[in-house]
Amino acid sequence: MRLRRIPGTRERIRQYAPWLVEEPQQWQGRWQEYIAGRLETTPTPVERKEIHLELGVGRGRFINQMAQEQPQHFWIGAELREEVLLTAIERAEKWQAPNLAFLWIDIETTTDIFAHGEVDAIYLNFSDPWPKDRHAKRRLTHRRFLDRYRQYLKPGGKIHFKTDNRDLFDFSLEEFKENGFSLEAVTFDLHKDPNLSSYDLSARVMTEYENRFSQKGQPIHRCIAVLP
Ligand SMILES: C[S@@+](CC[C@H](N)C(=O)[O-])C[C@H]1O[C@@H](n2cnc3c(N)ncnc32)[C@H](O)[C@@H]1O
Repeated sequence: MRLRRIPGTRERIRQYAPWLVEEPQQWQGRWQEYIAGRLETTPTPVERKEIHLELGVGRGRFINQMAQEQPQHFWIGAELREEVLLTAIERAEKWQAPNLAFLWIDIETTTDIFAHGEVDAIYLNFSDPWPKDRHAKRRLTHRRFLDRYRQYLKPGGKIHFKTDNRDLFDFSLEEFKENGFSLEAVTFDLHKDPNLSSYDLSARVMTEYENRFSQKGQPIHRCIAVLP
């Protein structure tokens, strides 16, 4: 997918350093150094921060709340569309988020940005469904992408996936299973699930799209796919 440029937005986003990471490839294999720099500490294996990566953050409601509620982790959000990314970054600036950074990238490039085992958890929230069969390869849960995530998600790492789209959900469950991931906490109606309170926090923190669809009474589907 091509990056869309709106005149002036790059300059506006740049005003929000340190929340936008410029040339993120330079940190591949060294994200703990980057994090230590942001937190003004010395990187030691003992103090290693878990990296939680959301792919396709939109306006960043979910990742900003997760970063606030889980300050023990470092949160990184990737987004292609600058007009929504700008809102996500403005939100981070508002609360001076110490443990949050954004990448203005195509998710296709994440294998050049993270090294083997460098990411602890991935979040895919309301990814574009690409309903036509001929576009299946663009779905972020297509095996083409799962192979990429496998390159940098740590063994035992989890992909947290939420969507309102039943066809995409069914497709994704099959893709996860056929590509060696095991499934946990599969639910077809998250907000009516009696186990909701026992799920990890990310199940209860709503994204922008989730809020919109839930208000209309649409069920939200969710699962966790675990890398062996
Ligand atoms: C349907 S929106 C969902 C936004 C947000 N996660 C939510 O739940 O409210 C999907 C987002 O993923 C982004 N996206 C889709 N494909 C992408 C790609 N290849 N690289 C980066 N971002 C992408 C889109 O720009 C869009 O903002």
